[in-house]
Amino acid sequence: MDHNKTLPVLIDCDPGADDVFALLWILINHKFSHLPMKLVGITTAWGNVAADKTYANALRMCQFVGATDIPVGKDHRQIESQDASHIHGEDGIGNLSSMLPEVQLPAEEKDSVEMIVEAIKQYGNELVILVTGPMTNIALAEEREPGILSQCKKIIAMGGAVQVNGNITPVAEFNIAYDAESAAKVFNATKNIVLIPLDLTTQMVFTDEDMENSFKNINHSTKQEFMRELTKFTTKTNMMFRETAYDKGFYVHDAHTVGMLLYPHIYKGSFYDVHVETKGELTKWETVVDVRNHARTEVNSFIATEFNKNLFLEAITEDFKQFDFGE
Ligand code: BDR
Ligand code: CA
Repeated sequence: MDHNKTLPVLIDCDPGADDVFALLWILINHKFSHLPMKLVGITTAWGNVAADKTYANALRMCQFVGATDIPVGKDHRQIESQDASHIHGEDGIGNLSSMLPEVQLPAEEKDSVEMIVEAIKQYGNELVILVTGPMTNIALAEEREPGILSQCKKIIAMGGAVQVNGNITPVAEFNIAYDAESAAKVFNATKNIVLIPLDLTTQMVFTDEDMENSFKNINHSTKQEFMRELTKFTTKTNMMFRETAYDKGFYVHDAHTVGMLLYPHIYKGSFYDVHVETKGELTKWETVVDVRNHARTEVNSFIATEFNKNLFLEAITEDFKQFDFGE
C-alpha cells in the first residue's frame, strides 16, 4: 500500500450505543482491512452522556479491537445539557461497561478541540472528519482557528431532520438540539459537509436478527455477548420511548457516517444549503433546508437521503468478519 495515498480520518463522537457501532466499524477497518484509510484520532464530546463517560467508552472500544495506539481526546468544558442516558444507559453503553475489561486511561489526557485543530493542520485537505455527536468540538476548533474547517476534505456528520420529525422536538434532532449554536456555526463556516439526517437513518431498524447475521462469524465470547446485549438494551429503550414507531430494533444512526465514508455508492442524495435555527419559539434547533425545486445559488452540504439497506448490512457484515472476537 502506498501510505502517501492513505486517507486520514478522525471521528468526533459521544458513545453512545450507535456511536459504538460506528467506532467499531471504523476501528476494525483501520486495523484489519486493506482499504487505504487510517484512523488518526478519536475525539469525544459531551452528548449522550457526560464527557468522562464518552471518553472512557471511546478508550474501551480501542481496547475492544486492540487499537490502543489511536489517540483519544476528551471534551474538557464543563457543561450541563439534556443527555440521552434514557436511551443509551447511564454509562452510555447499555449499562454494560462491567462486561468489558477495566478501562486503561492514558497517562496524558488529550484535548478534543486541540486534536481536531492539529489533525487539520497536519493532514489539510486530505482529512475526513466524521461527527456522530453534538458539533461542539468542531465549532470550537473553528473558533480557535477561523477558517480551519474549510481546509479539511469533508465533514461527514449525523444530525438534523429535514423532511421528517425530529427526535427531540417535532423539528429538532438530538445532535443538533444538544448544542444548536455550535451546529449553526459549523454550517456557516464551511461548505464541505455531508449530512446524514434522521430522514435517512430512520429508514432502517437494526434488529436482533440483523445483529446475529452481521456478527455471525463471531463465536461465543464476551465481546460477542457485549454486542448482543447492547443490541438488546438499545432495542428495549428505543421501544420504550417509541423511537422506532413500534418496529422492533433500533436505529444505527451513527454507523451511516462510516458507511458513507467507506461505501459511498450505497448512498444517494443532493446538494442543499443547511442552516440551524437557534432562536425560534416553536422551531428552535431545526435544520432549515430549502428543498424547493429551483436553481440554487448557495449550497454548503450534500444531504444523504436514501441508501441500499441490503448493501449496508452486507458491508457491515463483511467488515466485521475481519475481526476475531474470540477471547
Ligand atoms: C443521534 O443522537 C444520539 O442519541 C445518537 O447517538 C445519534 O448520534 C441520533 O439523533
Ligand atoms: Ca451519537
